[in-house]
Amino acid sequence: MQEQISTSPSRGLHIITWGCQMNVYDSARMADVLRPLGYSPVDLPDNADMIILNTCHIRERAAEKVFSELGRLRQIREARKLEGKETLIAVAGCVAQAEGKELLARAPYVDLVLGPQTYHRLPEMVARIARAGGSVIDTDFPVESKFDLLPEEAAPQNEGNLTAFLTIQEGCDKFCSFCVVPYTRGAETSRPVASILAEAERLVASGVKEITLLGQNVNAFHGDWNGGTASLPELAALLHEKIPALKRLRYITSHPRDMEQALIDAHRSNPIFMPYLHLPVQSGSDKVLKAMNRGHTADEYREIIRRLREARPDIALTSDFIVGHPGETDEDFEATMQLVRDIRFASAYSFKYSQRPGTPAAGQPFQVAENVKEKRLAALQALLREQQDAFNASLVGTVQDVLVTGHGRKPGQLNGRSPYLQPVHFEGSPSLIGEIVKVRITAPFTNSLGGHLHEQESTAI
Ligand code: 5AD
Ligand code: SF4
Repeated sequence: MQEQISTSPSRGLHIITWGCQMNVYDSARMADVLRPLGYSPVDLPDNADMIILNTCHIRERAAEKVFSELGRLRQIREARKLEGKETLIAVAGCVAQAEGKELLARAPYVDLVLGPQTYHRLPEMVARIARAGGSVIDTDFPVESKFDLLPEEAAPQNEGNLTAFLTIQEGCDKFCSFCVVPYTRGAETSRPVASILAEAERLVASGVKEITLLGQNVNAFHGDWNGGTASLPELAALLHEKIPALKRLRYITSHPRDMEQALIDAHRSNPIFMPYLHLPVQSGSDKVLKAMNRGHTADEYREIIRRLREARPDIALTSDFIVGHPGETDEDFEATMQLVRDIRFASAYSFKYSQRPGTPAAGQPFQVAENVKEKRLAALQALLREQQDAFNASLVGTVQDVLVTGHGRKPGQLNGRSPYLQPVHFEGSPSLIGEIVKVRITAPFTNSLGGHLHEQESTAI
């Protein structure tokens, strides 16, 4: 995923974002921190006085990708120099955290290297460079929380300001064998509830109807509240109670071990929870799950899904899978395929295992050959695609609540979002943008749905 933030300049700022929604959120916050210094987002790096590359380290060739992009940015900087303009180049995010020193050694023209926990210090770093020149690196895990020190965020930037991400938790203590997150994002921490409520209120006051709560282990959330802590279902109840104009709530990404019954029950009792859950399982083999240090078995995962479906029969499930973890045999892979057949996912992400330096799995014997990983991935993706098509087809003829987010590509067409996060296209008046309307689904596509507005059934909100 690559997103670019834009409006018009005083000092131009161009942020290139790779990776997860957390990075999208962080990029928006970096823009907020730099705004008081006179930086405003610009569309093209060629017009930018500062370029930030916000990186992701989770899978293959992360560092190489960064160096090749930095090569391109360096050329832009040289071209601007000929016009007498200076350009600061910063590398942020998880590659910066994991490989900061090597990064500066290999690309000394980079001015700033900062990890995900230190972007509230950006103004100070920029000032240091202005004073003394040279490069600055800050990949600490500071004692102060960036959330306490960030300015109030600007209005959300996506889908006509109707949907927004909100980070409530960061870091991870689970240490799955394959994963860099505990090293790049640090220990699990939750944001205090009061600051989340304040941010949610500001978002909703600016027109947001749907919020997605973000965290690497979002369902392990336990933020300070009223002298104790609040869990994710308690936070969701507070959001529902205190912000009536908030219509829809999602959260991502969850771990099966933290899928407690109170959270499962909230899917039944809290009306703003969408019937949708992303719950990564990674593998269907108990042996591989153990080697991955996931802390649950395949049957325990099946049982969580059974309870979720009991609480909310229409819930759509999505997941992440890794094929070819060290030691995975044909039999283990078949157990993954069986779990997918048993559960039936609405969609899913699947990846070939990639060795991440410094993680326990990288050093394990019995690495799986590349061609075997490829064959397994193709088989798994074919099955998941079949299930996604079947899920989309099953909605044909049903009437869905759709949050109308904007104009479609064709004249007279509107775009919206189904409860299951699918884009929905249908004809209607632009005055409906921002409302939740009823749409009868008529056409399933792989990644979206087509439908007709049910005017008489629509409820303005
Ligand atoms: N190799 C392949 N996939 C990985 N993921 C995380 N680390 C790796 C790795 N080393 C996948 C997991 C995780 C998702 C965000 O990325 O499936 O849930
Ligand atoms: Fe990584 Fe998620 Fe495992 Fe944490 S729970 S180590 S973020 S895969």
